[in-house]
Amino acid sequence: MSNNTVITGLNTTLANAIVSYQKLHHYHWQVNGEQFFELHTKFEEYYDKFAVIIDDVAERILTIGGSPLGTLSEALSTATISEDSEFPKATEMVSRTLNDFSTQTEQIQGVIAKAESAGDRGTVNLLDGIADGLEKDMWMLKAFLKKAGAAAEKNAA
Ligand SMILES: [Fe+2]
Repeated sequence: MSNNTVITGLNTTLANAIVSYQKLHHYHWQVNGEQFFELHTKFEEYYDKFAVIIDDVAERILTIGGSPLGTLSEALSTATISEDSEFPKATEMVSRTLNDFSTQTEQIQGVIAKAESAGDRGTVNLLDGIADGLEKDMWMLKAFLKKAGAAAEKNAA
């Protein structure tokens, strides 16, 4: 049985994690406003998680006989999320992060399905943990945006 589709999928997961890692640093550095301390810390927590994901996914690719992409240009051309050269407001940074996590979770779920049909339990186990973590983060980001939306309505009233 060929692992090629799983390896290709994992390289896209890796590419997304590399782009997220840099993008979350950008937000960590550039966030401003009332929620600075909260978001500066949260973005750091997220890029730290992606540092672990990058290494785990790359080493899984090697474990199943593939080769992880190794350059930033390959990561950018392979990723299903894009980098951010803008300087969005804090709430917009959270919203874009939520969108990225959603795109990444969908991509990972696609690889899980391929790994399941290839009988690749190790990849399924690794990706299940990553997808579970992203889903929990998405719930929290949505809760944050509800609070931010309520505050904006209150200020407008
Ligand atoms: Fe820092």
